[in-house]
Amino acid sequence: EDSLREKLFEINQKAKRFFEHLLWSSKEGEKARGYLKERGISSKVAKAFGLGFAPASYDSLASHLKLVGASLELAEQAGLLVRRTDGSFYDRFRARLIFPIYDHSGRVAGFGGRVLDQGEPKYLNSPETPVYHKGSILYGFFQARSFIREAKRGFIVEGYFDLISLFEAGVTEVLATLGTALTSHHARQLRSLTSEWYLVFDADEAGVKAALRAAPIFLNEGLFPKVITLPAGEDPDTFVRKFGAEGFRKLVEEAQDIFDFMIAVLEPRFSKTPEGRLRLFQEIKPALSAIKDPLLFELELSKLGERLGVSETALRRTFDSRSSFKV
Ligand code: GTP
Ligand code: MN
Ligand code: MN
Ligand code: MN
Ligand code: MN
Repeated sequence: EDSLREKLFEINQKAKRFFEHLLWSSKEGEKARGYLKERGISSKVAKAFGLGFAPASYDSLASHLKLVGASLELAEQAGLLVRRTDGSFYDRFRARLIFPIYDHSGRVAGFGGRVLDQGEPKYLNSPETPVYHKGSILYGFFQARSFIREAKRGFIVEGYFDLISLFEAGVTEVLATLGTALTSHHARQLRSLTSEWYLVFDADEAGVKAALRAAPIFLNEGLFPKVITLPAGEDPDTFVRKFGAEGFRKLVEEAQDIFDFMIAVLEPRFSKTPEGRLRLFQEIKPALSAIKDPLLFELELSKLGERLGVSETALRRTFDSRSSFKV
């Protein structure tokens, strides 16, 4: 089945080249070229990420693959084509700007596609295939890896355009989750590059939730991420286009420790009474408990006591009562 994977990479590569050709050299691609220009993406950066264009037609890729003698069944397995009940195939990606999604060695594992107007869904991704697993892919890994190692730090953003706009501005130590929840598999990949990670999620409710959910996963892998909070309503793409790399680097300097971030977000939900402080601590506890190193755990526990204005003994007691239940 290794040869199946090889073949899937190969047909993805064919599709990628076809989409690229349509973006840069076709009349239909003009709208997509205009779209990129409007969003401030240069052809140099677009080409570095292999961006492409899939026209509105239902059989533009299917016809092309047939013409070059590729197997349409294989293209279906790659998630490029969809089979109709009558056995014929049609293109999954239509009327979209195409983002190839690379694996760690630069092979094309899957694709994302964005509508050029207000259509739904805004983004469409390849389905799970033998070469595309969304729980283990980090967008930009192949392109950004060396920059992250060099900078000894990295930024984690949600979207394709967040990453590409940061690249455009010269901030190249960045990866994107593509809006999916971070997994421990992701965290281990991140850890293999560097230990200094910054979450730069959208300044909206979903972004805050994503950061809160990511916290225990990072801590469980021994990573203490920092959180960069953007002005309300911005995402890294809109922010860096307004304020440039300079503005972005200023925010980096103000990044919050993950526990400070959690306190800042959760504090308004609880009263300032001792009971309220303890209930706030209960919210943070799962993240704290995810720290495996006993020394680091102790350190964070006593820091939390200080920040919450609760004695360390009181915090510790919340663990004792739990363990005494177990006995
Ligand atoms: P732009 O409008 O192009 O700037 O999109 P965005 O990246 O700001 O979108 P958003 O903040 O809503 O989502 C962040 C990321 O989640 C996107 O870049 C996509 O990877 C993913 N995403 C968003 N909407 C969808 C969707 O409808 N379907 C899928 N599969 N993924 C989505
Ligand atoms: Mn697999
Ligand atoms: Mn969002
Ligand atoms: Mn966004
Ligand atoms: Mn955006």
